[in-house]
Amino acid sequence: MKIAISQSVPSTIETPLLVLPIADNGDKTPLPELLAADPALRALAAPLIAAADLTGKFVELVWDLSPAGVSAQRVLFIGAGKRDKISLSQLRNLAGAAARAAKSKNIKSFVLVLPELLEIPAAAQAAVEGIVAGDFDVDTYRTDRKDQALTDVTLAIPAAADAGAVFQSIAEGAILAESQNLTRTLALEPSNLMTPTMLADHARAMCEEAGLACEVYGPDKLKELKMGAFLSVSQGSEEEPRLVVMRYEPATAPASPVLGLVGKGITFDSGGISIKPADGMEKMKYDMCGAATMIGAMRAIALLKPDVRVISILCCSENMPDAKAQKPGDVQFAMNGKSIEVINTDAEGRLVLADGLCYARQLGATHLIDAATLTGAVVVALGYHNVGVFTNNDGFAGELMESAKRTGEKMWPMPVDADYFDHIRSEIADIKNTGGRWGGAITAAMFLQEFVDDMPWIHLDIAGTAWLEENKAWMPKGPSGVAVRTLVDLARHFKSTNSK
Ligand code: BES
Ligand code: MN
Ligand code: ZN
Repeated sequence: MKIAISQSVPSTIETPLLVLPIADNGDKTPLPELLAADPALRALAAPLIAAADLTGKFVELVWDLSPAGVSAQRVLFIGAGKRDKISLSQLRNLAGAAARAAKSKNIKSFVLVLPELLEIPAAAQAAVEGIVAGDFDVDTYRTDRKDQALTDVTLAIPAAADAGAVFQSIAEGAILAESQNLTRTLALEPSNLMTPTMLADHARAMCEEAGLACEVYGPDKLKELKMGAFLSVSQGSEEEPRLVVMRYEPATAPASPVLGLVGKGITFDSGGISIKPADGMEKMKYDMCGAATMIGAMRAIALLKPDVRVISILCCSENMPDAKAQKPGDVQFAMNGKSIEVINTDAEGRLVLADGLCYARQLGATHLIDAATLTGAVVVALGYHNVGVFTNNDGFAGELMESAKRTGEKMWPMPVDADYFDHIRSEIADIKNTGGRWGGAITAAMFLQEFVDDMPWIHLDIAGTAWLEENKAWMPKGPSGVAVRTLVDLARHFKSTNSK
C-alpha cells in the first residue's frame, strides 16, 4: 500500500472514494465544519444531517455514491463519535473502519480527511496504523480468495500542516502496523503449517530482513542448558522444540538496561495427557501468539531503532499426548534448578516460559517482559477486552501502562502477592504447575515469578485478547496482534530509573 498526503481542499481531490469523518455534537447536530472546513462537503452533508441519516455516531457509515460538487467519485461519511471525546485511539479505529468499508466495496484506493481537532502528525500516525491493520485479510487458504489489498491511500491534511513531520509519522505508523500484521499473519497459520521449527524459521527470516542477530536452538542445546521444564512439553510430540534468541544491540546504546522479551510459542496446545475437550480445540493453534507478538515487536524495534538494547526469547513447542508425553505427577527441573510437580500437562505455557525467563536473565536482560496466551482464567477475569498485566515492579509496569495508553491497547493491572503463592506449593517438589480453580491467572503469574528472582518483570496474559472473537468495524475476527505496538512504544520511551 502506498501512502501519500494531500494539502488540497478535500472536495477538489480526484479519487474513487473520499472519506470524511463527522463528529456528533452531543445534541444530534453533527458538525462537519469542525472536521473539514470545506463548503462543498458541508453542502453535501447538510441534507443528510437534516434528515438524521447522518448523526456522527462512532463508525456509522453513510455513503454518497454520486456526490455533486466534489471531485471524488464517491463520498463516505464516517461517524467520529462525540466531538469532545475524539481521541487518537478512536481515530485509529475509525481509519481502520474506513479501510474495511472501502475493501467491502472492492475500492482499493481512497482519501481520508484527517479531523482537524487532533494534532496532525500524531493523527496521521494513528490513521495509518488503523488503515494498515484494517487492511488485513484472514481468508489465506480460501481457493476463491481475491486479492483485496488496498493499493493507495491519501491522507488529506490542512494546508498549514508540516508535511515533513507528517511523512515521518506516516512512516512510523506503517512500520508499527505492518509489524502488528506480521504477528497476526503468523498467528493465523494452522499448526500443520506452523510447527515450532517453522515458527523459528519465520523468526530467523524476519531477523535477516530487519538486520537483527538471531540464533535458533534445538533439543540438544536445550538439554545442555538443562531446560527440563521447557523440554518436558515437547516430549509427547513428533515436533522438535525450538528456542529462538533475537538480539537488537545498537552500538550506541548503553550496556544497561537490557529489555528481555520472552514469548510463549506453543504452536498447538492439545493439553497433552490432561487433554482438552474437542470443542474449540482448533483455536489452540493460536497458543503461539506470545512468540508471534515478540517477532512483530522486534521487527518494529529493528526498524525504528530506539536507543536501548533488547533481546527476545521465543519458547516454541507443541503440546501433544503420545506415549512419551509427560504425565500428571511427573517432576521436572527448570534450568535454575527449581523442581516442578506437573499436576496438569495443560498448564504447559508456564513450563516453557520458566526456562525462557531464566535464559533471558542469563543472557544479560535487566528487565523482563513475557507475553503469553497463558490462562483461560484471565478471560474469566477480564473478558476479551483487556490484556492482564502482572508485575513485581510497579514503576516498570507503570511505564508499560503509559505506553498502552498511548497506543490505544487496553491493558489492566492484576494483583501479584504472596497469598496466592500458597496455592502452588507442592508436597513433593518446590512448586506445582497449577494452583486450583480460583485466581488461575494470578497463580500462573506467581509460578512465573519463581523464575525471575528480583528482576523487574511484567507478565502479559493475552489469552483473551490475542484473538478477536467477533468482527469489529475496524478489524476482522481473528488474530489481533495486541501488545506489539505497546512493547515497541515502551522500548522507545524506556527509562530504567522508574523501575529501581
Ligand atoms: N493455552 C492455554 C490457555 C488459553 C485458554 C489460551 C483459552 C487461549 C484461550 C493454556 O495452556 C492452558 O491450557 N491453561 C489452562 C491452565 C490450567 C490447566 C491450570 C487453563 O487455562 O485452563
Ligand atoms: Mn494448555
Ligand atoms: Zn497453552
